[in-house]
This record gives sequence, C-alpha cells and structure tokens, in this order.
Amino acid sequence: MSAIRLDEPLELPCGLVLQNRLCRAAMTEAIAGRRNDPNESHMRLYGENARGGAGLILTGNAMVDRRHLERARNVVIDAATDVLAMRRWAQSAADTPTLVQLSHPGRQANRFVQPHPVAPSDGPAVPLAGFFARPRALTLAEIEEVRESFIEAGERVLTAGFAGVEVHGAHGYLLDSFLDPAHNRRTDAYGGSLENRARLLLEIVGGLRSALPPQAAIAVKLDSREGGDAELAQLSLLLEQAGADLLEISGGNYESPAMLGFNAAGAQIESEHESPFWNSAAAVSAVTAVPVMLTGGFRTRAEVDRALAGGVCEMVGVARPLAVRPALAGQFIRGEIDVLERPAPRLGGSALMKRQLGAAAGSGWHRIQLVRTAAGKPPLMGLPALAAALDYTMLDAAQALFARRSRMKLARQARRLRTLSVPLGLGDVQHARNGNGSHREEEAR
Ligand SMILES: Cc1cc2nc3c(=O)[nH]c(=O)nc-3n(C[C@H](O)[C@H](O)[C@H](O)COP(=O)(O)O)c2cc1C
Repeated sequence: MSAIRLDEPLELPCGLVLQNRLCRAAMTEAIAGRRNDPNESHMRLYGENARGGAGLILTGNAMVDRRHLERARNVVIDAATDVLAMRRWAQSAADTPTLVQLSHPGRQANRFVQPHPVAPSDGPAVPLAGFFARPRALTLAEIEEVRESFIEAGERVLTAGFAGVEVHGAHGYLLDSFLDPAHNRRTDAYGGSLENRARLLLEIVGGLRSALPPQAAIAVKLDSREGGDAELAQLSLLLEQAGADLLEISGGNYESPAMLGFNAAGAQIESEHESPFWNSAAAVSAVTAVPVMLTGGFRTRAEVDRALAGGVCEMVGVARPLAVRPALAGQFIRGEIDVLERPAPRLGGSALMKRQLGAAAGSGWHRIQLVRTAAGKPPLMGLPALAAALDYTMLDAAQALFARRSRMKLARQARRLRTLSVPLGLGDVQHARNGNGSHREEEAR
C-alpha cells in the first residue's frame, strides 16, 4: 500500500471529496438560544472553522429530541427547529464539507435537563457530583421513536444544505449504551448478541441511507472498549452493509473520559501512541472498506504521518487544539507547524475533585474558547480550570432548569407538528450541496 499523505484528498463511498485527511472533530458548542436553534454565534464559529483549513468539519452534537439534551444550549433538530437558521448555519461553513453530529444523550442527560433519563435498561445513575438521575429502560415504541427522530433530523440537516450527518454512537450516549453489554441488559430484539445490541444503530444508519440522497455522507462515531476490538471490527462490517461512509474511532464516557486522555480515576492514560484508540482503529481498518478516522490525542505531524502511512486510519480527527485556534488545521496540513499545541491548564486539588470535575474542566476550558471564537474574540489562555469546570456544570444546570418548562412545551409542539408530516423538500439538496463540499458527479459535469 502506498503511504497516504495528510494533504491528499479522500473520496468517501458516497462520492463526497474531502480536500485533505484532517477533520475538525465534534465539540459541543452549547451556544444556541433558549429555543435551541442555531444562531449568529454558530455562523461565526463555523465560518472560522471552514477558513481553518480542515478537509472535513463535524459540528458539536445536535440533539434529536428536545426532552433529552447533552447540555442546555445544544442545537435541537426537530419539527420546531428554525429552518432558515439551519440553512444559514450550513452556508456559514460552505467552503468545507460539514457533517452535523446527531445524538441522544440517554443516561448522560443531567437531572436539570431531564430528571427521568432513558437508557436501554434500568440502571445506575452516572456517579458524578449528584448531577444525574437513574435512567429507566426505553419501551419498544420509544425505541422506534428514537430511530425516527434520528432519521428525520438527518433529513432536516440535508434539506438545510449540509454535506451529511454523523451519528454519535460513542462516549456513553444512548446509542453507545445500546452497544455496551454493561448497560444493555435487554432480552428483546435490542439486547443480547452484537446484532441485537447494534440493531438500533443499524436501523438508524440504514434508515438514513434510504431517506437521504445517495451523495449525502453518513459518518458514525464509535467507541474503542477494553478487549472489544474484535467486536468493533464485526460492527464496522455491519455498518458498511448499512451504508456508512466514514467510521470515526474514539472512546470513553462521562465515568471514564478516555476521549480526553483520562481514566476513571482522573489520571492520564498511558499509551504507546498519542491516541489511546490506535489499536482499535487498526483493527477496524483491517477489515472494512469504509474509510476509518481516528480521533483523540493527535498532536504531532510524525504520529499523524505514522497513522496514515501505516494504514491505521485514512483520516485523523483533531478537536481541542482547533477549539483554541481553528487556523492551526491549515498550518499543520501545509507543514508550517509540526505540533498542535494544547495549552489548557489541568485541574488541581484532591483526587476526588479531579475524578468528579477533571473532565468538566478540560471540556469546559475548550468550550469557552469556542464561545470566544463565536464572538469574534481571541482565546482566553489564562482562564482557570476551576472556573471552566463550574461554567460547564453549574451554569449549564441553571440554564437547563430555567428553560425546562418552555422547552418541554416546545417538545410537545414539535411532536404534534411531526405528525402533520410536512414534506422536507430533499429535491433542494443537490442545489444546496454545491455550497457545501464537492462531489465527484458534480465535478464530472
Ligand atoms: C469542549 C469539547 C466538546 C466536545 N464535544 C463533543 C461532541 O459534541 N461530540 C463528540 O463526539 N465528541 C465531543 N468531544 C470529543 C472530541 O470530539 C474528541 O473526541 C476529543 O476531544 C479527543 O480529541 P482531541 O484529543 O483532538 O481533543 C468534545 C471535546 C471537547 C474538548
């Protein structure tokens, strides 16, 4: 196999051509207004991301059900979403193919957002600072509703003019907990064997493949699990059959935030490679024809080159360095810099404090840098880790509580509107697509 270079284009199975092998990975921006629509802040942030030079952009997780949010100010995509705001958001990133990441938080929705979170099975609450309630098992009818909400959200994303979607099947959120036998103890068609635990994810990806135009890109983010590489490889083959275009490999969840480089005790993960998920990506790449993207920990050109040249992945995802400076992507790809700096301070204090708040500090510090980019301001390098952790937890909880009643009312309206089933006009997609990414067919014309 000839070595893949970072600045080489990649054509996805759907025909979408990415100009290079670096993706700006998903980061929850949580900057929507009280109705959870995209706004001017999203447009500035994604305009900067597009100018940054990455070949692909993934948005922060957008929610498919407004009763269940990852945080208070997520974008929600349902029948009550402002269609014009979605279109303007898609246009803001028009220079670079952009996929909207679709998610349902499941048991990781905090109690201020949702005091009755849902999961594949009844189970323990996420044990973090009392922020989470015990989840209850979804009924079969509710599982069907979850599936439809992902597919309908995907249709809305394409109608708005984005190049495609990423289905979030990682990080302990709902679809990941269906895949994870530790959380899925169902005895029906959605529990037990891998085929059953993957059923909901496969129905969503297959449903999106049928509902969206063939040129729409469908990515899936998956978790590496200790000892789980063989199953992950099997799952990748099922997703290939279902029509996935890109498989992103990550890992971790709220209890054990491996995606941020920490274990459950809050200590740094020791790993032979910059990315702790290296071996899992290699295992998936070995069996599937779907391009694999490895995200998490990449900071040096040498390691990125090793991953691409060694067939570990066909694309790399980078998140935190680009939260601080989106333009680093282009500089790194052009070889002007060899290291992607990540200057965030670590949380001090006791082991308990680090375990409870370490991940919130890490994510919160970077989220505030996204907020600053969205406001047209430079990064705030001196921001203390504790202040970021409190912003990420307490401020979010207050915003969630404050808006809960009106959000639940809007959720009821959205569900009523949905039954009216307004046609989404996917005929516009080809036209919109010209603005968001290039396609083989279009180039041939
Ligand atoms: C502020 C912040 C928000 C994040 N939000 C998301 C998200 O919405 N969806 C997702 O899949 N991953 C999310 N992540 C994880 C990143 O996509 C990525 O997997 C992780 O940061 C590791 O990559 P890195 O080492 O390049 O930062 C987030 C990370 C950070 C720091």
